Amino acid sequence: MAVDLTQISQVSTEPGELPATMAAWVIREDRLGEPSDAFQLEEIEVPEPGAFEVIVRVMAAGVNFNNVWAALGTPVSVFGYGDHPQYGHHIGGSDASGIVWKVGEGVTRWKPGDEVVVHCNQASYEDPEVHGLDPMAAPSQKIWGYETTWGSFAQFTKVQAQQLLPKPAALAWEEAASYGLTYFTAYRMLMDRAKIQAGDRVLIWGAAGGLGVFATQLVKAAGGESVGVVSSDEKGELVMKLGAKGYINRAEFDGMMRKGGETPAEEKERFAVTRAFAKRVKEILGESPDIVFEHVGKATFPTSVFTVKPFGKVVICGATSGYNLDFDVRYLWMRQKEILGSHFANAWECTLANKLIDDGLIRPVLWRTMGFDQVAEAHQLMHENKHAGKISVLVGATEEGQGRTGEGPGAIHAEVGA
Ligand SMILES: NC(=O)c1ccc[n+]([C@@H]2O[C@H](COP(=O)([O-])OP(=O)(O)OC[C@H]3O[C@@H](n4cnc5c(N)ncnc54)[C@H](OP(=O)(O)O)[C@@H]3O)[C@@H](O)[C@H]2O)c1
Repeated sequence: MAVDLTQISQVSTEPGELPATMAAWVIREDRLGEPSDAFQLEEIEVPEPGAFEVIVRVMAAGVNFNNVWAALGTPVSVFGYGDHPQYGHHIGGSDASGIVWKVGEGVTRWKPGDEVVVHCNQASYEDPEVHGLDPMAAPSQKIWGYETTWGSFAQFTKVQAQQLLPKPAALAWEEAASYGLTYFTAYRMLMDRAKIQAGDRVLIWGAAGGLGVFATQLVKAAGGESVGVVSSDEKGELVMKLGAKGYINRAEFDGMMRKGGETPAEEKERFAVTRAFAKRVKEILGESPDIVFEHVGKATFPTSVFTVKPFGKVVICGATSGYNLDFDVRYLWMRQKEILGSHFANAWECTLANKLIDDGLIRPVLWRTMGFDQVAEAHQLMHENKHAGKISVLVGATEEGQGRTGEGPGAIHAEVGA
């Protein structure tokens, strides 16, 4: 049955009861490819909540790079993971703001009508790691709306009760839906993995991107100084507004990017540009960085390891340009540097980080709010790196600005690019 897009903001039931079906953007195994083709609108049965699960009516959903990967089916297809084999579809979306609509058995902290944001980590209550180590270490750990279906690009989403956080009152639905995945990831990377200290200097790749806009604000809030790498001066201005000490337009140092398969002469040439880049970083920060905030991967990793100061840390959570990294390891061991892997965040980190948003100390950075009809387009823009900060999609909300119930600074609106 065709989905009536004019009815997306309407639901036929009151909180506590679920309608039979909902509109959802669905990726299927037989149409993986460019986001503009892989995402298609379908009518899907609304799931019932299991024990300790909650069905949330989505008011707005946030767009993330993970569902660009899900659409492309690379580096792995999501269909082998989580509950995908059971349902056969992928409803993506790892950020949402919304209203608790129905709670499953055992849920006592939340009730129908509560306004929430959703963090995207799931793990089984039965895994012992969840209760003493870290849910991120649990064998059952999955990213909701990427490694599982029932994500937020639908009228309703199914989540574990522990994923819910109170919606910051000063934020509109689209602002509240925009920050979770990237902000909570950046929080863990800097606070808990790299253990940033006041006075630390930090190099941030992609500083105007989803992770970077939060890393830049967090470094400032922690009493550190950052230099952001960006691909245009317009993005550089945004990064300065977010509290960076300076920015570098990477177009000036294009030659430092590792492509792979270079000849020894090309390697030497690349290294000369890397040195010049590291010198510029030092000039801006006054010293080499204590921490490099990495997620670009193959293209930048050799430069990150070289540029970080002796005993410094490169913390990495992704690899947009490729995940097979190679670098000159002599700069790692001789100068006693550390490489730290990091992946999303646990519920406690999300809770602490969400409080900073509630207090107005960290602000969402919204590039664009789009309609529910534009989910595929939004991912295509992200795939083509035409965005800055975050993109939100209205689902239950009919226009921007709805859902604010308190006073506060709200989101920063990024006036950049396309
Ligand atoms: N493990 C986790 O929990 C986790 C969480 C969030 C994200 N990630 C991963 O981290 C990566 C970034 O996520 P995001 O949300 O920040 O994406 P994003 O919004 O696209 O921002 C990434 C930024 O990186 C820069 N960039 C892209 N390709 C580059 C290249 N070849 N060389 C140098 N800079 C490049 C771009 O900035 P400029 O063009 O301005 O330089 C871009 O704005 C993605 O691969 C994502 O899947 C992982």
